[in-house]
Amino acid sequence: MKLSYLLIASLLVITFATCKHEPSYKITGNIIDTTTKPTLVNDSICFNTQILPLIKASCAQTGCHDAITREEGIVLDSYNGIKALGTRDLMKYINLSYGKVMPPLPQPRLDAASKALLNKWIGEGAKNRICTPTVCDTVNVKYTTHIAPIMNIYCKGCHNTSNAGGAVNLDNYTSTKTCTTTGKMICTITTNGCAIMPKGGPSLSKCDIRKIQIWAATDCPQ
Ligand code: HEC
Repeated sequence: MKLSYLLIASLLVITFATCKHEPSYKITGNIIDTTTKPTLVNDSICFNTQILPLIKASCAQTGCHDAITREEGIVLDSYNGIKALGTRDLMKYINLSYGKVMPPLPQPRLDAASKALLNKWIGEGAKNRICTPTVCDTVNVKYTTHIAPIMNIYCKGCHNTSNAGGAVNLDNYTSTKTCTTTGKMICTITTNGCAIMPKGGPSLSKCDIRKIQIWAATDCPQ
């Protein structure tokens, strides 16, 4: 009798010990455990406004994963293209610092904020969540609070020190200001006779264009 109780008890212990909740990807230094699926958390990331423009500017420029070059058959200019690559592979490329690191040199690495955003989106299940901004914050428009975030998502991938499309660098205050005061910035984002930016579109939202116009009109405060 006692022996059978003991047997049942130990079976229960074993069952519970091996029954794991689905853990999130584990990132330890350079090692990502991609054998498990990420945990789903709240939906907070918008695919259309936060993820697609970032991936397009960092990965889908000419010569890389755009619809024309299709490097290694991978096209990262749409939700389906990104999903086809698979979020596990995306995780590996953006997080590891050895082997096949993306974007490849001499392209700059994704900055910590962009990586965190992509990881969070993947953690939320890499959904095609579409958001329409309702309020446009045009109060006290400054480079750090209003302009840099737009440049980081929509422009920096093609306009940085090692990859300055059209000899334009948009990864710091000084050169972004220069681009704006010469009138080139507004001209390109309002499709006013210049090369249309972001290259490969779609154009910036009315709200973002408005912020940049206000910034230009108020002498580009930092
Ligand atoms: C996918 C890559 C890519 C993205 C994203 C991109 N650009 Fe460009 N940009 C280029 C290339 C390449 C050129 C050079 C001209 C050309 O090929 O059309 C250029 C040229 C320019 C020029 C110079 C135009 C001229 O007439 O001299 C400006 C200004 C500019 N971009 C601003 C921006 C801004 C602002 C954004 C973000 C809203 C942006 N670009 C996003 C690739 C890009």
